[in-house]
Amino acid sequence: MINIKTQEEIELIRASGRIASKTLDYLATKIKPGITTEQLDQLGHQFILDNCAKPSPLNYRGYPKSLCISINEEVVHGIPGKRRIKEGDILTIDITVNKNGFHGDTARTFMVGNVSERAEKLVETTRKSMYLGINACKIGAYLGDIGATIQNYIESLGFSVVRNFVGHGIGRNFHEDPQVPFYGKKGTGLRLKEGMVLTIEPMINEGTWEVVILEDGWTSVTKDGLLSAQFEHTIVITQDGPDILTLS
Ligand code: MF3
Ligand code: CO
Ligand code: CO
Repeated sequence: MINIKTQEEIELIRASGRIASKTLDYLATKIKPGITTEQLDQLGHQFILDNCAKPSPLNYRGYPKSLCISINEEVVHGIPGKRRIKEGDILTIDITVNKNGFHGDTARTFMVGNVSERAEKLVETTRKSMYLGINACKIGAYLGDIGATIQNYIESLGFSVVRNFVGHGIGRNFHEDPQVPFYGKKGTGLRLKEGMVLTIEPMINEGTWEVVILEDGWTSVTKDGLLSAQFEHTIVITQDGPDILTLS
């Protein structure tokens, strides 16, 4: 069932989304070669608590940490740990916070110092594909329009769209209906309505779209070991088009 949000609910999601985005701004200043993903998790955890919010992933379906941090070939759901960031890495930090019972979900891929030209191209292409997907979120458009827009753009540049994970509705629950694939066909699937709140979070791979889940049960990595990037915003569909709820 898809919940249509009221104006009050939308503002509560925006308040959470702003904290999630501010946490990413703060962590951007802490990303340096040598820091571990566990240290970034601790800094982010504290920043979220200092803003009177809670990190939604912690204990969600048994997830053990507050943030998801995925380096290079890691696609999503990287569990923060002892891995140290080094010059040339790309890392995706995905943050969801809950304040006053509503969630806001946003992710960015950061480049550590000088990265390869290919890595930079992947990251910039992924960012652009997210905005193309967001711009497809208009009243009356089809869910498939979002996926088709992203997939066409990505594949025209020789990259691939991960199929195993999708975007989602969000609000009182971290993950709500509908599922939002980032591949598909124009004019298919459900019609978008005013007040729907969705995440647009394409996961884009340098090589094959196939992923493997590691023994920890969470971390997904590219099957070919090549790079992966992701950007995510939470948006609401309005009369004036998409409104991004995860801005700082
Ligand atoms: N934030 C992720 C998303 O965009 C979900 C993470 S689930 C977790 O949907 F348990 F790993 F945190
Ligand atoms: Co997320
Ligand atoms: Co999400």
